[in-house]
Amino acid sequence: YFIGVDLGTSAVKLLLMDEEGKIVNIVSREYPLYFPHPGWSEQKPEDWWEQSKEGIRELVKDVDKSQVAGISFGGQMHGLVILDENDNVIRPAILWNDGRTAKQTDYLNTVIGKEKLSEYTANIAFAGFTAPKILWVKENEPDNFEKICKIMLPKDYLAYRLSGAFVSDYSDASGMLLMDVKNKCWSKEMAEICGISLEMLPELHESFDAVGTLKPEVAAELGLPETCKVVAGAGDNAAAAVGTGTVGDGMCNVSLGTSGTVFISSNKFGVDSHNALHAFAHADGHYHLMGCMLSAASCNKWWMDEIIRTKEYTKEQENITKLGENNVFFLPYLMGERSPHNNPDARGTFIGLTMDTTREDMTQAVLEGVAFAIRDSFEVAKSLGIQIERTKICGGGAKSPLWRRMIANVLNIKVDRIESEEGPALGGAMLAAVACGVFSSVEEAAEKIVRVTETIEPEPELVEKYERQYRKFAKIYPTVKDLFT
Ligand code: XUL
Repeated sequence: YFIGVDLGTSAVKLLLMDEEGKIVNIVSREYPLYFPHPGWSEQKPEDWWEQSKEGIRELVKDVDKSQVAGISFGGQMHGLVILDENDNVIRPAILWNDGRTAKQTDYLNTVIGKEKLSEYTANIAFAGFTAPKILWVKENEPDNFEKICKIMLPKDYLAYRLSGAFVSDYSDASGMLLMDVKNKCWSKEMAEICGISLEMLPELHESFDAVGTLKPEVAAELGLPETCKVVAGAGDNAAAAVGTGTVGDGMCNVSLGTSGTVFISSNKFGVDSHNALHAFAHADGHYHLMGCMLSAASCNKWWMDEIIRTKEYTKEQENITKLGENNVFFLPYLMGERSPHNNPDARGTFIGLTMDTTREDMTQAVLEGVAFAIRDSFEVAKSLGIQIERTKICGGGAKSPLWRRMIANVLNIKVDRIESEEGPALGGAMLAAVACGVFSSVEEAAEKIVRVTETIEPEPELVEKYERQYRKFAKIYPTVKDLFT
């Protein structure tokens, strides 16, 4: 058996896969997310660790535990986890959707300059990336900064606790703005700019590399064999791409999780000259381009849980009838926005309300706003000459038939569903299987395991309507953005 751990923002999702690639069990455990100030976002690494351990125990309780051969990860990206000389976590992790670093991001992009950053890393600075957060800690919490001995990403913290190996993988490390993505090594220049030493950074690996085995005391606690391999794993989007078979050249995956992403795999290294899409390494040994919006399924969760206060997500969506004809628009920037606006101060907005606006119109606008914002990144990819005719889809939001249909029609592409929406967890388990020699490569694992179960075709009439709607949506942000300062 192989365990895939998706260390997400709302919960850790764990998946158990057998040697044939069959999903045997899936469990999920939640932990709190803290917003100490508007636009800030933090979690406690100890919560990740405790809930992951609980989850693993629950996941394997009905199988022969001695047969668990490997464990790997898809982890929320960019989060800053800092440890002191005694391996204690110095402060809560600052997450990928945290917008506190506007000043540091601006410093990197304007004083160091976008050209230099691209030369050193292949990317420019975005507020959620790790390097600006290191600068933030340096400026705002100098005592904490002084204590830093190790800097790692969220899933690397789990690997460290499980195995003692201080490692990361190329896909996840790409999002730190500390790695030279093209050459797959740390950037000395970026370390210097951030005032850190290279010894503070983990050793880099391919996602499918075994980096150690379980520590004896951890193995005993979990009831797993000490020989169980701990495998580097990937950032959650690269892991999701593995789990949906988005490997090789020119494949696409859309993820509707807490964040929303468009992920385009590529065998060759390439950058987006507009700097709207990220140029990162992939978990299959190659590269990808990715657009990331900060609030996707989380917009619907916020709307349903906090505003209209119902748990009946499916029922709410069944009453939606005005596809392509909604007068209400929603800007989904509840945590600011990354791709393509790069503006941590952007905010959510409803526009176009009238006396006869219904709650369903607003629910529809929330779902559509996310689809339109995904299209914004998609448009950037198209402007680079990338042709995409179909995409895979994963993440919690992909469970909604209505949302999948909106994506197919707003993007005007075929949307392939696969057996499980748990992309990163399945991808993690697949990476573990590759490291244990069950498959010779990530491509082979994807070919043997991933099956498309349904294809949602775009509907010409609806595509046309959504084209008109998208053009209106695209005008809203430039019109209101001056209000968001
Ligand atoms: C990607 C990103 C998000 C997180 C979500 O750049 O920030 O997709 O990885 O967990």
